[in-house]
Amino acid sequence: MTAEIRATAPGAPAPWCSSPEGIGGLLRGAGYLADEHTCTVLWLAGQLGKPVLIEGPAGTGKTELAKSTAAMTAARLIRLQCYEGLDESRALYDWNYQKQLLRILADSVGGAGQDGTWADLESGVFTDDFLLPRPLLEAIRAAEPVVLLIDEVDRLDVEAEALLLEVLSDYQVSIPELGTLSSRQTPMVFLTSNRARDLSEALRRRCLYLYLDYPAAEREREIVRMRVPGISAQLAGQITAMVAALRQLDLRQHPSVAQTLEWARTLLALGAEHLDAGLAADSLRTLLRYRSDIEVAAARLASGQLP
Ligand SMILES: Nc1ncnc2c1ncn2[C@@H]1O[C@H](COP(=O)(O)OP(=O)(O)OP(=O)(O)O)[C@@H](O)[C@H]1O
Ligand SMILES: [Mg+2]
Repeated sequence: MTAEIRATAPGAPAPWCSSPEGIGGLLRGAGYLADEHTCTVLWLAGQLGKPVLIEGPAGTGKTELAKSTAAMTAARLIRLQCYEGLDESRALYDWNYQKQLLRILADSVGGAGQDGTWADLESGVFTDDFLLPRPLLEAIRAAEPVVLLIDEVDRLDVEAEALLLEVLSDYQVSIPELGTLSSRQTPMVFLTSNRARDLSEALRRRCLYLYLDYPAAEREREIVRMRVPGISAQLAGQITAMVAALRQLDLRQHPSVAQTLEWARTLLALGAEHLDAGLAADSLRTLLRYRSDIEVAAARLASGQLP
């Protein structure tokens, strides 16, 4: 099931956004189980036309929430994957230099423009035809509904973060040679961060904030049942109880939802119907990523301190 497919006029509430409960149902239909708070933040974002900044530990569904929102609204997902060194020409727009050069050559061979001034020449090649839109501009210019995912924004340099501010507050991009390009709709925007570094106040001010923590064992069990077809309720419950207990330990890296799912798939592939201490100990390598963590968990299992 998807929501109504219609671009949102700037400033108007998103059409799919009738109530937080309704959003919960739509997300579930797209394969994402959100808690009440998440649905409320999404609803508010749609009502207010504001971006959502999602922070939280790795593998807790930050990126997936943006993807599922796109799926539930049948919107196009435009993704900007952030990394150190990302600049304007990769994030916003670039000029197609080869095409510009060809145009100038063609004009001079054909005699056109030979008498023209530098300004004529410049205005001839700095037009829409020669513009290469990158994800942020692509989202601003889209005529159809889009979800813009600015993933792992904490990997950006502080200076590059400033590139986002105009888009996030006014949904527009200023290009010196062309002027200001404004969006025809209010795109749904998500930014995700693992908190590798602190984001600027200016960026935070422009967004609604959502902290996605590890889900409660009950909800994680439902996620496992939804994402791992064929798994029994009993095995899913045992897996998520074990994972919840492991998250209480002092480990170097706590297992993420993604790792829980991987473990569940492994146990299912091994033909397990229920989880006992022996099977858990044998398969810990699928769940944990550090040798020291595996040793800590194995010791707890051996002493009967885990469920
Ligand atoms: N609430 C949820 N409902 C359904 N699936 C979920 C949920 N949360 C997490 N998942 C599953 O966990 C996987 C990992 O989620 P995702 O990649 O979105 O994590 P992340 O928070 O973006 O991690 P990272 O910080 O490493 O990028 C998803 O592919 C999805 O299968
Ligand atoms: Mg992610």
